[in-house]
Amino acid sequence: MSRPPLKKQVALPLAFAAMFGLALYVLYKFAPTLPPGANEEQRMGQTAYHLTQSLVSVALWMSVALAVVRALNEFVFFLFRKRKGYEAPSLMRDLFSLVCTVSALALILWLHFPNLSFGALLSGSALLGVILGLALQDTLGNLFSGISLHADKPFQVGDVITVGKFTGVVMAITWRAVKIKTFQNHIVLVSNSIVAKESIEVCPRDNQNARIVFFSAAYNDSPVKVIHAVREAIRECENVLRYMTPIVRIRNLGESSVDYEVKYWLSDYARYNDTDALVRQRIWYAFQRNKLTFAFPTRTIFMEHYGLRDGDHDAETLAERLSAVDIFAPLNSDELSALALDAKGHVFAPGELIIRAGDNGSSMFVVHRGSVDVRVDSNGTQRTIKRLSEGDFFGEMALFTGEPRTASVFAAEETEVLEIGHDAMKNLFATNPELVESLSHTIQERRAGLAANASATVSEDDTPAGLLSKIKRFFRLD
Ligand code: CMP
Repeated sequence: MSRPPLKKQVALPLAFAAMFGLALYVLYKFAPTLPPGANEEQRMGQTAYHLTQSLVSVALWMSVALAVVRALNEFVFFLFRKRKGYEAPSLMRDLFSLVCTVSALALILWLHFPNLSFGALLSGSALLGVILGLALQDTLGNLFSGISLHADKPFQVGDVITVGKFTGVVMAITWRAVKIKTFQNHIVLVSNSIVAKESIEVCPRDNQNARIVFFSAAYNDSPVKVIHAVREAIRECENVLRYMTPIVRIRNLGESSVDYEVKYWLSDYARYNDTDALVRQRIWYAFQRNKLTFAFPTRTIFMEHYGLRDGDHDAETLAERLSAVDIFAPLNSDELSALALDAKGHVFAPGELIIRAGDNGSSMFVVHRGSVDVRVDSNGTQRTIKRLSEGDFFGEMALFTGEPRTASVFAAEETEVLEIGHDAMKNLFATNPELVESLSHTIQERRAGLAANASATVSEDDTPAGLLSKIKRFFRLD
């Protein structure tokens, strides 16, 4: 809020002071004098006139003093502002005026009534003190709370605070109350004594204040996609702090939706309502662009389903994917279609475990989308020995040899795999003996890779011939 110029602030009160000064001059200049030899009645009249004159004079001097104190206050706090670079607290200004005014009043009274005993007046007025004390109880409470607020400085002008049921931007802290402008643009005055008693939530103006906005997405939409799309959409919003990356996370798996929250930081917290609205708007556009769906109340009807469950790929797409896997190259289109019908799709989150070393396993997997890391335990620490991507397969060792899983496999990003079980492979082996051979070569290579990276040793069985007979034995192919 801009202040009027200093000249005007000082000149106006001084003009009033001059006006009252002129009235004083007239009061004394034209005072009637007592003629010599005046009678008793005239002398009494003169005394009454003097008393009235003194009272009017006190009133006029007080007016002069008030005007001068006002001008002085403006001037002194103008110097304060210039020197310190910020506005003096209004409480300090009020106290300054109070002290000057009370001193001026005492001086004026003493000059007009020199016989008046202030000590007696003060000590003899115990009853007056009690009455005043009771009357000023709230005022003094506010004053002292105001002093403590200024000393502690729990918040400042411009901060956003919540006191009781009110939230808003602090406009001023006076000797009586804290003035707040709410987000409905209403002005609320909360008296200092209430502020001192209540618990206050303070969002300092120059702090990194955060907000949380909620939204929900349909269960079909992958969390990785939702989180990425929303985070990118809101980090460029106006008033969102650039150097603090917003956090988007799942807060609940609801009845009809996956519920998310976005935590973002603001440059100017006082504008959080507008920024929340803008964030929600950007989320809507991000959903549109990325073909995501907001959740509506839904009811899931379970239907018995054979073959592929996760994902909505048709058998043709899957057959195409499987034909690109090198070990399945010898298969004809009918065999590929049959394999596709038996394959089960699964989606894994980034970092999620797909198979664990040491477990028993009766299926293998083809990476349909994304990539996976093959990890082994090397001297107590997990080490990635291979990254497999789309079209690669894993889990074949346990499936074809009946031994425990030789390594753990984790999704490196959001990954979709196709699981192929023991029976599906057995059918293929019967018609494609060369499949067993090519598999035994892959397994042999991978075992060598394992031996080089972990504490595994290569046994006799690890020769292609040894592996071939092991697979045949296990699948009872002879
Ligand atoms: P399985 O032993 O069933 O489970 C772990 C899987 O990790 C294993 O099958 C292979 O598919 C895979 N794997 C093990 N070692 C390697 C390697 N050196 N290179 C690629 N994949 C491997």
